[in-house]
Formats: sequence, C-alpha cells, structure tokens
Amino acid sequence: MTVNGSVLITNVRPYGDGEPVDVAVTDGTITAIGAGLEAPDGAEVLDGRGGILLPGFVDLHTHLREPGREDTETVASGSAAAAAGGYTAVFAMANTDPVADNAAVTDLVWRLGQEVGLVDVHPVGAVTVGLAGEQLAEMGMMAAGTGRVKLFSDDGKCVHDPLVMKRALEYSKGLGVLISQHSEEPRLTEGAVAHDGAIAARLGLTGWPRAAEESIVARDALLARDAGYRVHVAHASTEGTVELLRWARGQGIEISAEVTPHHLLLDDSRLETYDGVNRVNPPLREERDKLALRAALADGTIDCVATDHAPHAAQEKCCEFSQARPGMLGLETALSIVVETMVGPGLLDWRGVARVMSERPAQLVGLDDQGRPIAVGEPGNLAVVDPDAQWTVAADELASKSRNTPYAEMTLPARVLGTVLRGTVTHR
Ligand code: DOR
Ligand code: ZN
Repeated sequence: MTVNGSVLITNVRPYGDGEPVDVAVTDGTITAIGAGLEAPDGAEVLDGRGGILLPGFVDLHTHLREPGREDTETVASGSAAAAAGGYTAVFAMANTDPVADNAAVTDLVWRLGQEVGLVDVHPVGAVTVGLAGEQLAEMGMMAAGTGRVKLFSDDGKCVHDPLVMKRALEYSKGLGVLISQHSEEPRLTEGAVAHDGAIAARLGLTGWPRAAEESIVARDALLARDAGYRVHVAHASTEGTVELLRWARGQGIEISAEVTPHHLLLDDSRLETYDGVNRVNPPLREERDKLALRAALADGTIDCVATDHAPHAAQEKCCEFSQARPGMLGLETALSIVVETMVGPGLLDWRGVARVMSERPAQLVGLDDQGRPIAVGEPGNLAVVDPDAQWTVAADELASKSRNTPYAEMTLPARVLGTVLRGTVTHR
C-alpha cells in the first residue's frame, strides 16, 4: 500500500516561473515552498537541478494488460513506466482478459496498483458486457466498489449502437461518472488498417476514413445534448473532429476530448516502410490533422493529452502490417512529445503543460488529489522536468515490458528527472 512520504525537492521552478525554490512535502502534503528549506524529518532529498516543477501527470488512457496479457505489461511494469514518464495517476483501460466489466476485476486492478504503489491505477470499467456493445455492464457496482470507477469505456471498440450509447449516457449521468468513447463507426472500418488517404491507396492498405470517427463524435455530441450530460472523446485524430468539438461547445454541449502524443507528432508518411510499429487505432492521419490537433490542444478545444499507451508483444508487431496489432507505447515519452510539438513551437507554456497533462484530466474524472496547484496544503503529487535535456529513445531501456515505441532512436527534448507520489519518490 502507498504510504504518505516526506521529501525535500531542491532547486526547482514551479511551472517554470521565477527563481528556483525548494519544496518540502511532509507526510504526503506540501508544507513549505521557499529558498534554503530544511528537509522534513526522515525526508528523502530529490535534487531538481534547476528544473521545472509540475503537478504529477494524469493519464486518462493507459492499457496495462493485467489481467490476461501479463507477458506484454503488468500493473507493476506499467506503473514503473508511468512513474518514469512523470505520471502520478493513470486510468487502466477495460479491454483486459477477462474484461473489466464487473467490480471483481476493477477492484482487483485498483488493489494491484495500490500494492505496487508507484502511481494511482484507477480502473476503467467497460460500458458493455464483454465489450460486445449490446448489454450495459454493471456500471453502478463498479462505481461503488473499492476501485471507485470514475471512467467507463469500451476502448478498443466503439459503443456503436446509438440506443446503447444513449442509455449508457443516461446511466453515467445518474452515477456522476464519465464515458470515454472510442469513436469508430465499425461499418466504415471493416478490414481498415491505415488512414484512408493517398498513402494507404498507394501502399495497398485498406483505409480507415475520417468519417468513421467524426460520425460517432457528431452523434455522441447530440446524444450528450439530449441526455444533458457530458461525454468524452478518446484519441481525437482528425481536423473534422476538432471542428465538431468547436461546434458542440458552441451549442453548450458538454463534450471533452483527449489527443495522443503520437497523433500530435506522427502522420501517415510513417507507413512507407510497412513497419507494424506504426499501426495504431485510430490511424496516423495527415499533416493538416496534426496541425489542427495541436491548435485545438493549445486553445482548449481539446482538453488534454492521453497516451493510449498500448503495449504489444514483439510477435504481434513484427509481422505483416495488416496483421500487426494496433497500438504504441506512450507513457515514458509523452512529456517529450508534448514539448517537441507544443512547447517548442510556442503553442503551450509550462502552465499549459500542467493544464493538459495534469489539471484538466484530473478535473474531467473528478480526482480531488491530482492536478492540484503547487501550494502549501496541497497533495505532494509532483513531477520534476529538465526542459533542456535531449535524449535518444532506446526501446530496450524502457520500463515497459513491451518494446513497441515508434520513437526508437529518435532524439527528443525534455526529460522527467523525478516523480513524487504523496511525498514518496517513485522515479528518479
Ligand atoms: O491502437 C489502439 N490500441 N487503439 C485502441 O483503441 C486499443 C489499443 C489496444 O488495446 O491495443
Ligand atoms: Zn481506443
């Protein structure tokens, strides 16, 4: 079980502002911020080396693969990857085996996460039994269990039946929980493996059209309007989705959205090599989608970054492109990709990074101990970032059990120097 710890973080600049200070965390709570602080009794010391202090990151979209595929990731290995990426809370998707469609599984995932103690692992509950899209899962039981499920998703599959989605939204309203939709109209993506554009056509890959995503986003916005309740769009990937989000907001519809690091950085020009590492769902799109997603994250149309960290075994990725499983690792590289695509070009400052990586995602799911201000009396859930670091991603050195990073051998900016969960150093 995680115990509240004490730590003195030295020589850091909260949000990158002002002169460096020390931050003392005593029994899990920030107790002092200032120059030349004494370490609290029994505290660890974390040298911030003049880096930037941010609230610990919160990931609304992580696949930890336990139970069922512990050969590719476990709660323990995924928690270590999360801590290495600066995360203090992650939401573990429900498409495990067995599916997390009941409280026995969601409570197990929560308990495993607390035993590991590196990051709060919040279980995501399935919306429908077995992710089959037909019968609603016992959402209330999962919300009331020890795992206190706050986020529901059939991710990997879309809740495509409009009547099922309508009922799920009505239930979620009664429970005060959030549904995250994997927006993919299945009739439009049968056999699809790549973005439906010129590159897929030339490479002979079956295309996944933008409309498959956008038609569900539009439909769900209307269902949310009628339900008078919010809905969340997982991994927004197209320019049209951004336009729909703006339209829906303008109508007063409560719709939120996340974007993945890979959709901010990569596009379908990566597919030329037929390397299965680039297969992901939704697929890598085009330059204009990337630019629209970045602008939307900067102006708040897209609320937050979520990794969709999706570990797969070597044999599931190193094969014919159309046979490769969709998904990419993300936890350990997310901050660097956000710096590369958003901070570097001047689209976000460090306050903005805190907003999209920590504050907004915590608010969306109602976590009261994450994404909090860096201030005395607040929880000691923090990440220290070296903004000037350059590092080359080595797949073999990742904490994840899997190796399917699309960033291998890339040199990226900024590195997480340390992560603190309730006053305990979980990564350095
Ligand atoms: O690329 C993806 N991988 N997209 C999903 O929706 C599911 C995920 C997975 O579970 O591997
Ligand atoms: Zn998904």
